[in-house]
Amino acid sequence: KKVVLAYSGGLDTSVILKWLQETYGCEVVTFTADLGQGEELEPARAKAELMGVRPEHIYIDDLREEFVRDFVFPMMRANAQYEGLYLLGTSIARPLISKRLIEIARETGADAVAHGATGKGNDQVRFELSAYALDPDIKVIAPWREWDLNSRTKLIEWAEARQVPIPHNKRGEAPFSTDANLLHTSSEGLVLEDPWDEVPDYVYSRTVNPEDAPDTPETIEIEFERGDGVALNGERMSPATLLEALNELGRKHGIGRLDLVENRFVGMKSRGMYETPGGTVYLEAHRGIEAITLDRGAAHLKDELMPRYAELIYNGFWFSPEREMLQAAIDLSQEKVSGTVRLKLYKGLASVTGRKSPNTLYSEKVVTFEDDQGAYDQRDAAGFIKLNALRLRLLGRRDR
Ligand code: ARG
Ligand code: SIN
Repeated sequence: KKVVLAYSGGLDTSVILKWLQETYGCEVVTFTADLGQGEELEPARAKAELMGVRPEHIYIDDLREEFVRDFVFPMMRANAQYEGLYLLGTSIARPLISKRLIEIARETGADAVAHGATGKGNDQVRFELSAYALDPDIKVIAPWREWDLNSRTKLIEWAEARQVPIPHNKRGEAPFSTDANLLHTSSEGLVLEDPWDEVPDYVYSRTVNPEDAPDTPETIEIEFERGDGVALNGERMSPATLLEALNELGRKHGIGRLDLVENRFVGMKSRGMYETPGGTVYLEAHRGIEAITLDRGAAHLKDELMPRYAELIYNGFWFSPEREMLQAAIDLSQEKVSGTVRLKLYKGLASVTGRKSPNTLYSEKVVTFEDDQGAYDQRDAAGFIKLNALRLRLLGRRDR
């Protein structure tokens, strides 16, 4: 009996580690992913060792490039936003974590995986749908749905009684729950639970307050190839490096803050605060390059599919045939989405101020209000309007 635990090294998953050993009497393999959450991961190794996990059973993997290249960028090609606003920073990380959990289960001969998501949220669904899709026979253990440690106080008491290492800041517990990676930091719960109360300043961790951001705007250029960002200010960068650089710019200018009430898949509404600095700049830029390189029919269809695609990711169906079908269509649309976008970053906003592409569909010659030298015959529009008006006139004659 062996179980692979998605282990952050924090209080909750440390308690889970101990609880699995005690309750199931099983050997625990820990997996800690570096997704760019900006935390030291070696302490997780030390803690796992302290709790008797064998050194060869402690996995700490740097997944930052894979995360951005194979998950964030494909999602950004769709301009995905759940309920019109949420850039899905937590949702898109879960399938990758599950994928690694299943790989590690295979490598170590484990028959189960475990995670620290509660029974009230979306994350349990995402972890588990992904796990079952990748290994139909895997067993999943979700301690939050099984134990009766239903309060912070109980959790800490339980941990203290068993010498589970408790991070110093957790004794005076942060008054909200967070999840962080290269794309975003999300905060939920406790002081954020009343949707009327403004998010306190101290909850923000990776953007300056836009009101305190520099008084001079900063201009940047992002280059795209086939729908993916490849360079910043003329310098080519890997996906994760590019997102990291945009995060820094976004942080400085207070970009990407969002206070949102959203509908969880399990049925309840929840209030959260998101900071997605680089992702917000990137999305604006991506829309900017699409504006000149995508045909109207393709662009509008894409925008119609987007909410559906975003909902699939939010609800945990990354590894599903319908997500893959939509992805294929979205990826096909990106073939000509190459070129450069210029943006101005200023006090919480990233605004496109220029775009150019070798594949541009924008024709100054056709659109100009000056002499177009026969590129467009204005007389054609008369018939175009007349036929489009035909049914409106028939209706008008009947009803007015
Ligand atoms: N509501 C967000 C989502 O479902 C974030 C969930 C995790 N966040 C957290 N602070 N624990 O994607
Ligand atoms: C959790 O419940 O573990 C976090 C919030 C969510 O998954 O929606």
